[in-house]
Amino acid sequence: MSDKQVIIVGSGMAALITAVRLSKEKNVKLFTKNFSSGGNSWRAQGGMAAAIHEQDHPFDHLQDTLEAGCFHNDSKMVSILVEEGVVRTKKWIEQGMVFDKKNGDFSLGMEGAHRKRRILHAGGDQTGFHWMTFLHEQIAMQSNLLIYEKEAVIDFIVEEGECKGVLTKDGDGEIREYLASATILATGGCGGIFEATSNDPTIIGDGIAMAYRAGAAISDMEFMQFHPTLIKYNGKVIGLASEALRGEGARLVDSSGKFIMEGKHPLKDLAPRDVVARVIEQETKQGNQIYLDINPIKDFENCFPAIYSMCKNSQIPLEEGKIPVTIGAHFLMGGVMTDSVGRTTIPRLFAVGEVARTGVHGANRLASNSLLEALVFSERTAEFILQTHSQASFNGKKGFVKGGIRKPSYSSLHPYHTKGEIRKRATYALGVERNGADMGELIRWLESSNQIDLHINNDRSQWTNEEIQCSNMLITTWLMASSAYQRTESIGAHFRVDYPTQDKRKWLGKQIMRELETDI
Ligand code: SIN
Repeated sequence: MSDKQVIIVGSGMAALITAVRLSKEKNVKLFTKNFSSGGNSWRAQGGMAAAIHEQDHPFDHLQDTLEAGCFHNDSKMVSILVEEGVVRTKKWIEQGMVFDKKNGDFSLGMEGAHRKRRILHAGGDQTGFHWMTFLHEQIAMQSNLLIYEKEAVIDFIVEEGECKGVLTKDGDGEIREYLASATILATGGCGGIFEATSNDPTIIGDGIAMAYRAGAAISDMEFMQFHPTLIKYNGKVIGLASEALRGEGARLVDSSGKFIMEGKHPLKDLAPRDVVARVIEQETKQGNQIYLDINPIKDFENCFPAIYSMCKNSQIPLEEGKIPVTIGAHFLMGGVMTDSVGRTTIPRLFAVGEVARTGVHGANRLASNSLLEALVFSERTAEFILQTHSQASFNGKKGFVKGGIRKPSYSSLHPYHTKGEIRKRATYALGVERNGADMGELIRWLESSNQIDLHINNDRSQWTNEEIQCSNMLITTWLMASSAYQRTESIGAHFRVDYPTQDKRKWLGKQIMRELETDI
């Protein structure tokens, strides 16, 4: 296989940044199971955190990231994120990426758990849309890049311990094999395994399941961040109400107008997301409908045009100045373990963006750090591949690793659990408040009739795309449930009512091991 062939799986911001950087020197094939106009990155509202203001400093950003992450973060990776984040963001701005300005300076937004205004945004609340539009303009200029839409990668080809490429299935059920010297996974997280989510519902953990099946180490799957403010009206989740609204003064209230974050955290409505989400969950359990009171925001319509239109289109009566909200699955802090140049534990297989567990987010991601992570680590991965021909993996097998790679069996097993059923059960057992009994029940259900074992080891080429996706959801949910069940403490986004406190001794030991084992 020529060193010139590279495969990217996914079409969000991390995938496109990697593609832009690599296609100058490599032949890049990019696969997406849907259209490249879909996916989570287009939906990103609030923005991208970077300490670019002269009154700010990457060290302050590092501290905020570690505090929000409950110090479960890999601090070396966080240093890279915040320091390189500034430099790399400035380069993209020089290349033409436009962020909102006011009186000639960047108009920096505020979000939860940040001590300073440092959120760059575009089009008010349409940062993802503007980033993705800009990146699509960039890739349109690359002649070495082919995009395969509606062609789902169904497995990695792993031979002699190395990733040699991918198996795909298109809309007509045709199976194809593509070989490459480097394969980059950029499929996003798995918010779509829950009923209420800010994610595109097609984001169900395909990449995590495939990487696990291939034998890659997976870690921190118990840490699913729930966003406190999804807009829910007439029983339907309509979309996200960015945390930037609270940054501009919006407050969480109940139907009597009481400020629900009062007395719950020193930062009140701008407390870390896990804290705010749990307060809303408690209120909801007591039968209270929670709203975002947007009255303090001046010029809401022009500052947040996308949220305004979303509310208007759903006939939410904005003249009352209240948006009805609920919590929902938003961002996975865990995933496929990578080092600082995107290497997974399988040589020639890389991961970037939300699918990667870089360690920067710890137990709870700081608001607006995800686009920055995508930018910094996608570029580092592309640079590494360009410099080194991509053979090496990193020695980081600390997470879940499938026991030995068995030959797939060719039985005609079909998944019998539906997506709706998996979502219902995951929502029940793996929400913001968890307990061992419910998670144990979910694990038993997922493992019943040897389903998990068969899903992990079976050849799927005879299955329909729907069956393959259902199987991926099953594996991802099982990884999350097993990780959450095993973590008998509460920390960040993982809160167990049966173990409500953090086990600091256990955590410290693990943290030290992690620091020692990170090799770059
Ligand atoms: C938001 O705008 O509230 C979401 C941004 C993020 O998840 O960082």
